[in-house]
Amino acid sequence: MNVARNFLLIGVLYLLVGLLIGMYMGGSGDRAMTAAHAHMNLVGFTLMVVFALSYRLFPTMAEGGLAKAHFWLHQFGALVMSVGLVLITGGILPEESVGPIMPVGEIAVVIGVALFGWNALKNAG
Ligand code: HEM
Ligand code: HEM
Repeated sequence: MNVARNFLLIGVLYLLVGLLIGMYMGGSGDRAMTAAHAHMNLVGFTLMVVFALSYRLFPTMAEGGLAKAHFWLHQFGALVMSVGLVLITGGILPEESVGPIMPVGEIAVVIGVALFGWNALKNAG
C-alpha cells in the first residue's frame, strides 16, 4: 500500500466535502455545521496531507507496519468523527444518540497520531 498517496487522495475527498459544507454555511447564513466543516477540513484534509508529505519526505517511515496501522486508525477515526459531526451539527440525529460513539473515533485518531510520532522518532531523518 502507498500510504502517502492514499492519505493525499482521501484528504482531497474530505476537502471537497468540507468546502461544500462551508459554501452551504456561507450561502445560507446557518453556522450550525461549523464544527463538522472545521474538522473535515482539518482532521480530514490538513492532517492527511501533512501525513502524506511526511511519509514522502521520510520514505523509511512509510515502509513498516506502523504506517499502515496509523493509516487505518486515522481513516476509521476521521470517518467516525466526520459522519458523527455531520449528523449532530446538521440536526439529523440527536447528540445524545451519536455523542457516545464519538470518543471511539477520537481515540483512534489519537492512537494513530501516537504511532505516527513513534514512527517519526525511529525513522524520520
Ligand atoms: C469554499 C471554501 C470555504 C468556505 C465557503 C468556508 C466557509 C466557512 C464559514 C461560513 C464558516 C463559519 C464562520 C463563522 O461562523 O464565523 C467557516 C468556519 C471555519 N472554516 Fe471555513 N470555509 C471554507 C474553507 C475552509 C478551509 C479550506 C478550511 C481549513 C483548511 C476552513 C476552516 C474553517 C475553520 C477552522 C472554521 C471555524 C472558525 C472558527 O471557529 O472561528 N474553511 N468556514
Ligand atoms: C481527537 C481529535 C479532536 C477532537 C476530539 C476535537 C474536539 C473539538 C471540540 C469539542 C471543539 C469545539 C466545537 C464546538 O464548539 O462546537 C473543537 C473545535 C475546534 N477544533 Fe477540534 N478536535 C480534534 C482535533 C482537531 C484538530 C486536529 C484540529 C486542527 C488541525 C482542530 C481544530 C479545531 C478548531 C479550529 C476548532 C474551532 C472551530 C469550531 O468551533 O469547530 N481540532 N474541537
